[in-house]
Amino acid sequence: MIREIVKYPDPILQRPTERVADFNDQLRALAADMFESMYKAQGIGLAAPQIGVGLRMTVIDLSNQKDPDDKLVLVNPEIVHKEGRQVEEEGCLSLPDIRDKVVRAAKVRVRAQDLDGQWRELEGTELLARAFQHEIDHLDGILFPWRLSGLKRDFILRRIRKLQKTGEWK
Ligand code: NI
Repeated sequence: MIREIVKYPDPILQRPTERVADFNDQLRALAADMFESMYKAQGIGLAAPQIGVGLRMTVIDLSNQKDPDDKLVLVNPEIVHKEGRQVEEEGCLSLPDIRDKVVRAAKVRVRAQDLDGQWRELEGTELLARAFQHEIDHLDGILFPWRLSGLKRDFILRRIRKLQKTGEWK
């Protein structure tokens, strides 16, 4: 089922999520909904709070449905190692049309459970490393403008407030 993407400043996006404890059919259905909603919105990553669910879970598919091997579900993910530095432009489905360059680690290793509760480690570089960091930030209640300088962040927040006033921010 396609669910509506929650936009900033909804408080659910700014709260740390709860760990997933039950690996059941409901969780599988949630993952399916997250993929469907992400594809509809043309995203490459989506965190559960972005469809209004405060659970520590995210889905990523850099291939945008082209390669089934690229479909990743990360339950209770943690970054266990990061190295290097990359600076690339980033966006977020919860902050439409807002983009900026964000400093991230170039390579990260993530420990996460799958939908059966099995733990595994995944490694990502470049765009995948960026997606891991962006999505895990979501699970900690952090949006990408929070990773920018105070000046840039304030500029973005002012721009959003203006759009809210004119009804262009939905
Ligand atoms: Ni995002």
